[in-house]
Amino acid sequence: MLRENAEIISNDNIGAELFSMRVKSSAIARNWRPGQFVHILPPVNTGKPPMLRRPISILASQNDEFEFIYRVAGEGTSLISQMKPSDTLDIIGPLGNGFDNIPDSQGLHILIGGGVGAPPMIALARLLHEKKLDVEFYQGAKDASDLILNNEMENSEFKYHVTTEDGSIGHKGLVIDILPENTKQIAAVYACGPIGMMKAILKWRDNAGFPYFVSIENKMACGIGVCLGCSAPTVDGKYIRTCIDGPVFNADILDWEKI
Ligand SMILES: Cc1cc2nc3c(=O)[nH]c(=O)nc-3n(C[C@H](O)[C@H](O)[C@H](O)COP(=O)(O)OP(=O)(O)OC[C@H]3O[C@@H](n4cnc5c(N)ncnc54)[C@H](O)[C@@H]3O)c2cc1C
Ligand code: FES
Repeated sequence: MLRENAEIISNDNIGAELFSMRVKSSAIARNWRPGQFVHILPPVNTGKPPMLRRPISILASQNDEFEFIYRVAGEGTSLISQMKPSDTLDIIGPLGNGFDNIPDSQGLHILIGGGVGAPPMIALARLLHEKKLDVEFYQGAKDASDLILNNEMENSEFKYHVTTEDGSIGHKGLVIDILPENTKQIAAVYACGPIGMMKAILKWRDNAGFPYFVSIENKMACGIGVCLGCSAPTVDGKYIRTCIDGPVFNADILDWEKI
């Protein structure tokens, strides 16, 4: 992990509220794993107190540059969206535990990304595909403009399914509606997105024995394990920190009633 003032290479509007940013940082670009994130300090307007950093998942890297995709959700991401190439981005990263303990068993690896939960799933899909595992990807979004890298995913070598809430692309409805009924071939399931989606996946898995890994997008302050602002409840009555114990967890250790 390091703190860096890194050069922005590009910051492009790629959907109604979606932006893709590429940043020059060899330390991050050469040392991240899917599921890890960067903690970004939005640029501060003169006279205003500094804002807290905002966590965003790393999507990809090439040579000395890495990329992330973000949705403008509020003031922090709005300020980030106004930054220009060659501006300096104050970042800490790569942070958190990514998808480090992937079962490399044969069978189907099902990845599910909802909304801006898709980028870490796309990064993981590429890694699993490189490892020659059988990947099936499900992406759910509000509408066509909210889908992330849809064209690229459609042209990828793994099976890809889309749902949009308004039916503008793919199946109309929620991603949970189209998950397979037959779960016998499944080696593992991985998901990132709204809590409701991740809970519904837990219910869909029911008593099937395959492991289920989630990446949780809790609100964060420090991002480095100090403030406890990102705590998540566990089934044994304790709390774990999303920023350094996660954001990737085995879903079975979390207390979903309290999340
Ligand atoms: C590990 C991690 C990875 C993430 N990866 C991505 C990513 O790849 N792309 C992306 O667009 N977003 C991602 N997020 C969510 C992103 O951090 C928030 O959307 C962002 O911090 C909002 O900041 P803001 O100042 O623009 O909005 P705020 O003004 O802080 O909030 C605006 C709205 O967004 C909600 N919100 C704020 N923080 C979060 C959060 N952490 N999760 C969900 N909703 C939130 C608020 O409740 C509010 O409704 C990630 C979050 C985490 C914890
Ligand atoms: S955000 Fe401070 S401990 Fe996790």
